[in-house]
Amino acid sequence: MIAYLADSRTFFLQGPRSSYVLAITRHGHLQHLHWGARVQPGALDGIAPLIDRAFSPNPLAAGHGYSLDTLGQECPTGGLTDFRSPAVLVEHPDGTQALELVYESHAIAAGKPKLAGLPATYVEAAGEADTLSIVLADRASGVRVELSYTQFRDHDAVSRSLRIVNAGDAPRCVLRALSASLDLPPGERSLMTLNGAWARERHVDLTPLRPGTQGVGSRRGTSSHQHNPFIAVVDAGTTEEHGEARGLALAYSGCFLAQAEVDQFAEARVQIGLDAPAFRWRLAPGAAFQAPEALLVWSGDGLGGMSRTFHRLLRTRMARGRYRDAQRPILINNWEATYFNFDTEKLVAIAAKAKEIGVEMMVLDDGWFGARKDDKAGLGDWVCNEAKLPGGLKALADRIEGLGMRFGLWFEPEMVNPDSDLYRAHPDWCLHIPGRDRSTGRSQLVLDLARPEVADHVYRSITAVLRSARISYVKWDMNRHLTEVASPAFPAGEVHHRYVLALYAMLERITAEFPDVLFESCSGGGGRFDAGLLHYMPQVWTSDNSDAICRLDIQHGTSMAYPLSSMGAHVSACPNHQVHRTTPMLTRGHVAFTGAFGFELDLNKLSPEDLATARAVVAEYNRVRDLLAGGDLYRLRAPADRRAASWMVVAPDRSRALVTWVSIVAEANAPFPVLRLRGLDPSARYRVDGEVVGGDVLMSIGLRPRIGHDFTSRTWHLERV
Ligand code: DGJ
Repeated sequence: MIAYLADSRTFFLQGPRSSYVLAITRHGHLQHLHWGARVQPGALDGIAPLIDRAFSPNPLAAGHGYSLDTLGQECPTGGLTDFRSPAVLVEHPDGTQALELVYESHAIAAGKPKLAGLPATYVEAAGEADTLSIVLADRASGVRVELSYTQFRDHDAVSRSLRIVNAGDAPRCVLRALSASLDLPPGERSLMTLNGAWARERHVDLTPLRPGTQGVGSRRGTSSHQHNPFIAVVDAGTTEEHGEARGLALAYSGCFLAQAEVDQFAEARVQIGLDAPAFRWRLAPGAAFQAPEALLVWSGDGLGGMSRTFHRLLRTRMARGRYRDAQRPILINNWEATYFNFDTEKLVAIAAKAKEIGVEMMVLDDGWFGARKDDKAGLGDWVCNEAKLPGGLKALADRIEGLGMRFGLWFEPEMVNPDSDLYRAHPDWCLHIPGRDRSTGRSQLVLDLARPEVADHVYRSITAVLRSARISYVKWDMNRHLTEVASPAFPAGEVHHRYVLALYAMLERITAEFPDVLFESCSGGGGRFDAGLLHYMPQVWTSDNSDAICRLDIQHGTSMAYPLSSMGAHVSACPNHQVHRTTPMLTRGHVAFTGAFGFELDLNKLSPEDLATARAVVAEYNRVRDLLAGGDLYRLRAPADRRAASWMVVAPDRSRALVTWVSIVAEANAPFPVLRLRGLDPSARYRVDGEVVGGDVLMSIGLRPRIGHDFTSRTWHLERV
């Protein structure tokens, strides 16, 4: 998978159809040469000529014709002859930030080592991947940067990370450590980002790259609703199924930067990595800083090909634990059914009705603990409120289990309300700046998880509850962003990242201790939907917006990088609570069962017709749940024109497929669209709607769906005959 040509000092990372090529220049800098379609390893001299350019300074030893300002690089720094965005910045004792990183050594080994304390992709056998480590060193300071590249055998994907070591004899500070940086040659391209807000997450934006810097990031302490730690650089003319796309995703759940900088010669520097406000990480002599992992996916099969590679990788080699492969339960969550207004009988009635239509798990959401009668009090006091739930969680869980269902529970472990016993006992346990007021968000403060005594308390409270009853699922919520980010335990410039590391450490501990519990992450819906958290929790509540039509955009955008199995999606009541829209039960079902499927309403309140449809939706889902969980997604029609959206999921062996069509807003006397299917075996014949049709016909002539009334949907089940 990784070849090294010693003569030209060039590394070829070879995926099934892609190559990632880098070389050591004659002056020892690490040059980026190619990330694209597969090329045979061979000399590439003269491919990227170094030409002298006016106003581009030259390192003294190199002289004319060689400048970092014009060299395509893999690990650019600042302060010397490159004026573009650096990937690594280290502050020396004299306040300067110059680093000249030159090649020192490299090693290639089978497999993929773990990333200490951070989420990362993994292999189950050494033959699945090769890892290249390259050590670069700055002779003047002793700082070393160890770059790590893993090429996966079965995926056109490379994972990258870096570690900065202070091998000098004075303390230094890391100011920037971006996980991936590379310089693409000139080309007509666009930048894809996933943006939005609470209840409107991950809408796709595709904007042509122009000179200067374009990008997104989060300064909120989480990966955020506003921008996702994923970008793609998309060639002009690339469609869903054709053309080149290069995606970068960061396996990290805190502040980040993801950007493209088009320079004076139209080269695009693409970067992704951790980047927190005032980030400043002390490095004592001998100490090291490990940056998170970035995943780089190349596709020659358009955006769809890029997404399918991300999906397979994240689903099978980022997610872990029993529920990576095990069937996820169909759940019913009481949040939109009751909000805080529930008691045991109400919950059991909701569960019992859900059980009748085939739902398998009842999840009790917010409000079961402490003095939590609304969202103003109680966070931090993880003790069941027995006035609401006599006999506690055990009694309720037993009743639910008695119905033949499993029981799940909501927590918000990272938070505390000022109106709570925990805060009254430990007012200094939250992030705060002494002498300044503490800003609240949803009436709550953020616990300083980086302090061991705080993390231990949270761990003990949560695990005590998990041991107290038969709890099979946890919804791990997080409902505000970080402000006054300071801690007595660490210098302010470290606290953002320390928080995320402490969260990962806690999740590692709890998920290892409760391997049979299914964990779903949540942050006011999809405010922390990133590749990193999928390492601990294989599914995420995608958005607090449960309207089926809004979900078309949200799930479409999310699917650019993240697998369907990771997207929590529920059928909720109508009129919808977020946008007051009324949509048919069938459409709500078809949209929700495309993700990690559940319900979030009181089925006792449905009309007999809607209840029958809900039952039919569950039955339809049961026919295809394995296909949806492990199949390949093809986006057939984006919701962008507001007329319709369509997608299909194809089994890996192409023996089955499910096609879904949702009409959005109808047009009078509209033409019948053509729906060309994808991913089928062209030489096979498929049974669809009682007919037997060739895969070639379905893919080249296609189906001719009728655009239905507003918000209606239909599906086609295909089976190879
Ligand atoms: C925000 C979540 O996204 C909702 O689903 C719900 O769990 C509420 N928090 C409860 O406070």
